[in-house]
Amino acid sequence: DLYTPVVVAVDGPAGSGKSSVSRAAARALGFDYQDTGAAYRAFALHAVQSGVDLDDAAAVIAALPAFDYEIGTDPDETFVRVDGRDVTDEIRTPRVTSSVAHVSKLPEVRQHLVDLFRRIIQGTSKPGIVTEGRDITTVVAPDAQVRILLTASEEVRMARRSAEVTGQSAEETARQLSRRDQQDSRVVDFMTAAEGVTTLDSTHLDFDQTVQAVVELVRSTATAP
Ligand code: DC
Repeated sequence: DLYTPVVVAVDGPAGSGKSSVSRAAARALGFDYQDTGAAYRAFALHAVQSGVDLDDAAAVIAALPAFDYEIGTDPDETFVRVDGRDVTDEIRTPRVTSSVAHVSKLPEVRQHLVDLFRRIIQGTSKPGIVTEGRDITTVVAPDAQVRILLTASEEVRMARRSAEVTGQSAEETARQLSRRDQQDSRVVDFMTAAEGVTTLDSTHLDFDQTVQAVVELVRSTATAP
């Protein structure tokens, strides 16, 4: 059967390479690409800039209706805008990264963003969309035609992340990564594959091989018209 659009759901921990792999796979398939972590980051930034104390859950939730979020889903031209302002780089700053967990742990925030992610998936004008995050295979798109849990050993994830991050020691990067994994896994379990989810372990694969594995999974499972 051909379903359009083809929905590809990818989950995984920090440093698994899921963002870059998902984006490259989307490009190879001619699909859109949605990074859902970007929305959690953008909302944390929006809340801070609205003067909200992130420890005040009620105030964080009250900031949801005014959250004006736009994401570029073309894998060759990804951008994030909040309130019409380009925040593509700002949402990657350590300040934002360390504040996201304060907002992503709130069920009201998650529900609001899950609705938004589903609208973006339904709104794609491409033959498919690769959506990546922590709970895409389980909550956002449990009925996606292709569901992948992208993993890698902790050692490899740390090595990959410290190659990306400059200006701090590998030890500090490793500490940050495991702290985030710990925080994040309290909110959603992204370390074990749900039923029907294919685990793709990239520990012994290089970047291109991992992208190719995703593309092949999509081609063998769901074929776009
Ligand atoms: O993938 P990332 O590092 O950009 O994600 C940023 C934060 O958002 C991270 O702390 C986990 C959280 N997140 C989430 O809770 N659910 C998602 N679907 C995606 C990200």
